Amino acid sequence: MKKILFVASESVPFIKTGGLADVVGSLPKYLNKDEFDVRVMLPKYLCMKEEYKGQLNYISHFYMDLGWRSQYVGILEMEYDGIKFYFIDNEYYFSGFKPYGNIYEDIEKFAFFSKAALSALPTIGFCPDIIHCHDWQTGLIPVFLKAGFQENAFYQGIKTIMTIHNLKFQGIWDMKTIKNITGLPDYYFTSDKLEAYGDANYLKGGLVYADAITTVSPTYAEEIKTPFYGENLNGLMCARAHDLRGIVNGIDYEEYNPETDPMIVKNYNAKNFRKEKVKNKVALQKELGLPQNEKTFMIGIVSRLTDQKGFDLINYMMEEMCQQDWQIVVLGTGEERYENMFRHFAWKYPDKVSANIFYSEAMSHKVYASCDAFLMPSLFEPCGLSQLMSLRYGTLPIVRETGGLKDTVIPYNEYESTGTGFSFANYNAHEMYQTIRYAHSVYVSKRREWNKMVDRAMAADFSWKASADKYAEMYNWL
Ligand code: ADP
Ligand code: GLC
Repeated sequence: MKKILFVASESVPFIKTGGLADVVGSLPKYLNKDEFDVRVMLPKYLCMKEEYKGQLNYISHFYMDLGWRSQYVGILEMEYDGIKFYFIDNEYYFSGFKPYGNIYEDIEKFAFFSKAALSALPTIGFCPDIIHCHDWQTGLIPVFLKAGFQENAFYQGIKTIMTIHNLKFQGIWDMKTIKNITGLPDYYFTSDKLEAYGDANYLKGGLVYADAITTVSPTYAEEIKTPFYGENLNGLMCARAHDLRGIVNGIDYEEYNPETDPMIVKNYNAKNFRKEKVKNKVALQKELGLPQNEKTFMIGIVSRLTDQKGFDLINYMMEEMCQQDWQIVVLGTGEERYENMFRHFAWKYPDKVSANIFYSEAMSHKVYASCDAFLMPSLFEPCGLSQLMSLRYGTLPIVRETGGLKDTVIPYNEYESTGTGFSFANYNAHEMYQTIRYAHSVYVSKRREWNKMVDRAMAADFSWKASADKYAEMYNWL
């Protein structure tokens, strides 16, 4: 039995700010239990969901050196859906309103978390064969492991994997401070290790020292070797190309299932969606105060409102989009300028735009189920889960051909009657707009074709099955 430890900064159902939480919370469930003992380690945030906070069992605590500091490390545990989760407790670091805040605080917070995760292993009596690290918050784990821990017999032979969910975020801060926080010797702060462009870089450290590197789609794995997507680490990505693979994410098919989903108004499946799906649309129109009309083309957006997701293209075309006979339903939070942009258009065109500037799982399910199309014109997209959720609910994605969007959405080909959505190549507002107009024209004048596309979208399989096998293969290979 191979022992795998996931270490990450968020996971459903406990705490979530984005797709990382979905992946960390669902992938372990889909790895073969006879072959792998997979456990997950997370910070115990004060802001985690209340209903679970009360259910955690205290295991033990100790004090750990972090540079010149000596810090409390509490360990709690809980089993959820057959998976054991450990939580690292320290109120000094983890009592913010959100998991992440100011970068200068997060830098110390996640140095602490990474070292505490390693230090806690003998106490919980779990010696993993592989530690699977996710994103910059855990980038120091492979570094700490080499820098001291592996002198101790307990840690010898542990392998590490670094998964990049988003190369944009690297955990960068000045070297002097990082030396002070981590207590790592000068040896580690050179350009072939933690140093990058004069600063210290956690993710880079992880990428240098991990035994294998993955990212969340094959296309993104290629893209990050180029300057445009490489976020200044493309050189390193090229150098480690042999150890880098792209494995597309899956989604939890039990959680996201239009046939059983308790959060949507009318359940439906691949057989009866022609009649039943639209009932969700009318219910959502009613709930949001939009004119109720089965025939109106409804476009959904569920997203963090950031540049990554292509909102400057939407901003640029929004006035024109509002001249069309479409309804646009947005659910998201993020940069203020985008929040206010949607609020403005919802005020100006109350019959056409609904701006829901908040976070709500229930509302996200309603949007996935109710809309006809789902818009995601990302500038870059390591994988993207929202388009997979849309496909699952027969809501056709309109995407830009980048990263995981390119790998998961097959563009409609009207001559061959193939495809599961619509896509465009260039990061160009008019190209996006024309693609939406094209989708609309198919929706209006070739409804049978549209419905056949929904058939194909709902039949596409983005459960974890295939991808979990690829992770399993990598674990075995390591
Ligand atoms: P990213 O991780 O870059 O934000 P993904 O597409 O991988 O993008 O994952 C986003 C996840 O967050 C999806 O599960 C999506 O439904 C969810 N999500 C984003 N914004 C909201 C919101 N305002 N309310 C509810 N869920 C949201
Ligand atoms: C990141 C990426 C997103 C990906 C998610 C889970 O947040 O932005 O594309 O789906 O991680 O891997």
